[in-house]
Amino acid sequence: MMKQSHQAAAAENETVRAPSDAVGPDEHIAPAPRVSIQAFCETVETAAAVQAARDDRRLVKTHIKIQMGGATAAVEAYRNSPTPNVIVIESENRAEEILGGLDQLAEVCDSGTRVIVIGRINDVTFYRELTRRGVSEYLIAPVGTIDIVRAICGLFSSSSAKPVGRIVAILGAKGGIGASTIAHNIAWAIARDLALDSVVTDLDLAFGTAGLDYNQDPPQGIADAVFSPERIDTAFVDRLLSKCADHLSLLAAPATLDRVYDFGVDAFDAILDALRNSIPCVVLDVPHQWTGWTKRLLISADDILLVAGPDLANLRNAKNLVDMLRAARPNDRRPYYCLNQVGVPKRPEITPADFAKALEDPPLAVIPFEPQLFGTAANNGQMIAEVSANHKTAEMFRQLAQILTGRTEAKQSRSGLLPMLSKLMKRAG
Ligand SMILES: Nc1ncnc2c1ncn2[C@@H]1O[C@H](COP(=O)(O)OP(=O)(O)OP(=O)(O)O)[C@@H](O)[C@H]1O
Ligand SMILES: [Mg+2]
Repeated sequence: MMKQSHQAAAAENETVRAPSDAVGPDEHIAPAPRVSIQAFCETVETAAAVQAARDDRRLVKTHIKIQMGGATAAVEAYRNSPTPNVIVIESENRAEEILGGLDQLAEVCDSGTRVIVIGRINDVTFYRELTRRGVSEYLIAPVGTIDIVRAICGLFSSSSAKPVGRIVAILGAKGGIGASTIAHNIAWAIARDLALDSVVTDLDLAFGTAGLDYNQDPPQGIADAVFSPERIDTAFVDRLLSKCADHLSLLAAPATLDRVYDFGVDAFDAILDALRNSIPCVVLDVPHQWTGWTKRLLISADDILLVAGPDLANLRNAKNLVDMLRAARPNDRRPYYCLNQVGVPKRPEITPADFAKALEDPPLAVIPFEPQLFGTAANNGQMIAEVSANHKTAEMFRQLAQILTGRTEAKQSRSGLLPMLSKLMKRAG
C-alpha cells in the first residue's frame, strides 16, 4: 500500500522541497526494524545521502547495500536472487521509462518487497501511476539524508494515529547536579500538563531516587526487565510499571546493593524497544556515568537534555558531551542543555552567556538554586509543582516538557525563559 509522503504531498501541490538536513521540532521518526535494504542510485549525491543514512541512529538495525545503476541494475540483480525487504531506486529518466523499469522490476521482485523511488519528476499523474504499481514512497530529488531515513522508517512505523515511542534522555554533566530531579519534574509535567502517557525509567539501579521523589515503593522495576530480557512483552512490562499519577508511571530502580550492576552495551535494548512500542513518551533518568550502555542510550534517544551547573567542570563536560553527541547524531537536533543550581550565594559562577558561547547554543532554561523549595520537595516525595504550583521553577518545568515533546519550538519557548536568563546575566555581568 502506498503511503502519502511529505514529498508526495508536495508533488501534488507542484512544489519542490529542498533537501532538509534535520528533523523538524515536532517530528518523530521511529527507528526501523532489522530489515535488508538495497539502493540502486544514479547520482553520486543520492548515493552519498543513502550512505549517510546508513549511519543514522534510526537505521542501525537495518542492513543497507548501495550500488550504482538505477532500475536496470536492480532488474539484473534480482533475476536470479531473492529481493530484500526494501529496494530504493533512483532514476533520472522520464516518466515512461521509469514506469517501464518498474514494470520489469515487478516481474523479478518478491511480493513482500517494498519499493521507494527517487526521481526528478514532480507531476501528479506520474505520482498516481507509481501508486498504482504499488510503490511505497516517491521522493523528489535532490534528497537529503533525513529524507531517506524518514522514508525507510515510515515504511515500518505503525499506522495508528497515536504517536508512540518518543524517548527523552536526561543526563547530568556532573554527579549530583540535579539531573534526576529535573527528569522527574519534567516527566510529571508531560503527564500532568500535556496529558501524555509517560514512563520515567530510573537507570541508576543502585542509588536511583525516582521511587523516593514520587513517593513510591514498588516491588519490581527496571532490574526485572534488564535481568530477564527474554521475558519482556507488553504484559510483563505492564507489571513492572508502578503508577505515580494520571498518565505517569515509573520503572523504578531497586536502589539496593545486594547485586552489582555491570551491564553490557545492549542490556537495555529489549526493555526500551518494548516501552517505545507502547508508551508515547519515555523519560530516561540516566546516571552520571560513561559506559557502553549509557553512551548507547544517549545516542539512540530522540532528544537529549543535559543538565549542567555553572562551574568549570560542568562546562567542560557539557562541551565534551555536546561535541560527541553531535558527531554521533549528525541528522538530529543538537542536544539541549539547561543550567541548574544557579545563584548559590557568594559562589563565583560561570555565566549563562559564557555557556552559550562555549556550547554555541543558549541554555533551554536557567534554573535557580532554591534549597528551600527543592529540599522540601525531595524530603516530602513531591514534585516542585506540588509544593508550589505557581512558582516560576514549576513553570520552567512545564515549558521544558513542551519543548522536549515537540509541542513548542525551542526558540519560541526560550523567549518565555529569557526574562529569567537576562536577569541572571545582568546579575552576573
Ligand atoms: N535547583 C536546585 N536548587 C536546590 N537544590 C536542588 C536543585 N536541583 C536539584 N537540587 C537538589 O540537589 C540534589 C541532587 O539532585 P539529583 O539527585 O537530582 O542530582 P543528580 O544529578 O541526579 O545526581 P546523581 O549524580 O546522583 O544522579 C537533590 O537533593 C535535589 O533536591
Ligand atoms: Mg541522578
